[in-house]
Parts: sequence; structure tokens; C-alpha cells
Amino acid sequence: MNNRQLAEKAVEAKKIALPSYSNFHVGSALLTKEGKIYLGGNIETPSYSLTICAERTAIFKAISEGERNFSAIAIASDSPDYCPPCGACRQVIIDLCGNIDVIMINHKNEIKVVKISELLPLAFGDEDLKK
Ligand code: THU
Repeated sequence: MNNRQLAEKAVEAKKIALPSYSNFHVGSALLTKEGKIYLGGNIETPSYSLTICAERTAIFKAISEGERNFSAIAIASDSPDYCPPCGACRQVIIDLCGNIDVIMINHKNEIKVVKISELLPLAFGDEDLKK
């Protein structure tokens, strides 16, 4: 599975999003080291603040199925531009997936790949708990 194929899975995942209030569809595809893919869409609820982003949906789905080793996460959205993960998702990605690649795709089908550590420098983590 290459970066483009994973990004296309994220585009597909937009279909399973439930953005009932913002109507802004986001899809995410998380790749395990063994090559399995978990899809997630953003889910909004009437209480608004309990919304969950597409990235966290995919990550929590995978973790709750027993997965622990990941290599990349892709994100696609209704914005014509790249959709970077929000701050909360950045922390969850680094906490539960490690320093994986974040793949973003825009509406021109262009792809941008960055390490999560570039998006969240000086992140709090496991090591800080031991100090
Ligand atoms: N959203 C995501 O799912 N992922 C992101 O990276 C950015 C924002 C969702 C949250 C909310 O449902 C909608 O997009 C508008 O913010």
C-alpha cells in the first residue's frame, strides 16, 4: 500500500462520515505495519462538543481491535486544500501510533506527507511520565 493508495482510502472514508451539523466530511485511513487498513469518518452529535474527528475514529477503531503497530495515517476532507489534523488528533496520533507519516490529499489529487513529530514538536509523551 503506497501513500497515494492510502490517501484514496481516506477519500473513500469521507462517505462514512456523519457531519450532521458542519456538513464538512472528513475521512481517514490508518495503515498498520502488517498492511491492514482502518477507516474513520468524523462523527458529530447534537451536543456538538462531543464530536470526534475522522483520525481519532480510525485510531480508536484499530486500537480496540487489538492493533498496536502503525505506519501511516491519511486524511481527506471537503476542503479543496490539504486537511491537517487538529491539535487533539496530533496528540492522539503521536501517543498511540508513534512517529508515523501523516498523508494529506487535496482536491487536485496532490499529496503531502509529513511526520507527526513535525506537526507536533516537543510533544508530551510516555518518556515525560518517567522523569
Ligand atoms: N475534523 C476532522 O474530522 N479532522 C480534522 O483533521 C479536522 C476537523 C472534523 C471535526 C468536525 O466534525 C468537522 O471536521 C469540522 O471541524
